[in-house]
Amino acid sequence: MKYFLDSAKIDEIREAYETFGIDGVTTNPNHIMNSGKPFKAVLQDMIEFVKEKGIEGYEKFPISVEINPYLDDVDEMVAMGTEIAGMCSNFVIKIPCTQSGIVAARILEQKGIRTNVTLVFSPSQAILPAKNGSLFVSPFIGWKESSGEDCQQYIQDIVDIYANYGYETEIICAAVRNGKQFVDCAVAGADIVTAGLQVFKDSIYHPFTDYGMKRFQGAWDKTITD
Ligand code: E4P
Repeated sequence: MKYFLDSAKIDEIREAYETFGIDGVTTNPNHIMNSGKPFKAVLQDMIEFVKEKGIEGYEKFPISVEINPYLDDVDEMVAMGTEIAGMCSNFVIKIPCTQSGIVAARILEQKGIRTNVTLVFSPSQAILPAKNGSLFVSPFIGWKESSGEDCQQYIQDIVDIYANYGYETEIICAAVRNGKQFVDCAVAGADIVTAGLQVFKDSIYHPFTDYGMKRFQGAWDKTITD
């Protein structure tokens, strides 16, 4: 399972890449706002980062960039997606799973521009993006579980549907909030999880590991080690 960082902050992207070896990045308008920088400046940071690391191209390190969420006209969606994709070969165009978004994503894929269909909340929403050849589909986990839904079956259904028909679209389980959700996604066979930096850090923490370190340090102190 691949790990993507859900952030538009270049210092977090750098840390997650250097520490955890993340495989890509997902952003949305919230992340851009939280970076405190203008939209184009964030994209420029990312362009410089992939050049510095020698990971140019979406095949090596995909970075999902979402179009203006106010757009609902297919031509305008395609135009903005085309402009963003032209800035960097790592950029994958994130498009909402609306009727216009589905059409725009299909047109962009036909033009050779890779897409990530986002704001997916049910298995039925996940089928058309796959039929149309989107690179990614992003079913959200955290938002649904926050409102009391268990997502295990929902993820499993999407994984099974894609396997039934040999769809090549990769499933990004999005808005993952904790290690338990990482495990649910991995057990279901999802291709990718995307989460914030702290979620990655928390997912590798266990108090028994710290307890074990102290115990072993105590033993080391009482052992002749020279
Ligand atoms: C990913 O593609 C989504 O934009 C993201 O996971 C949404 O998560 P958030 O609720 O943390 O913004």
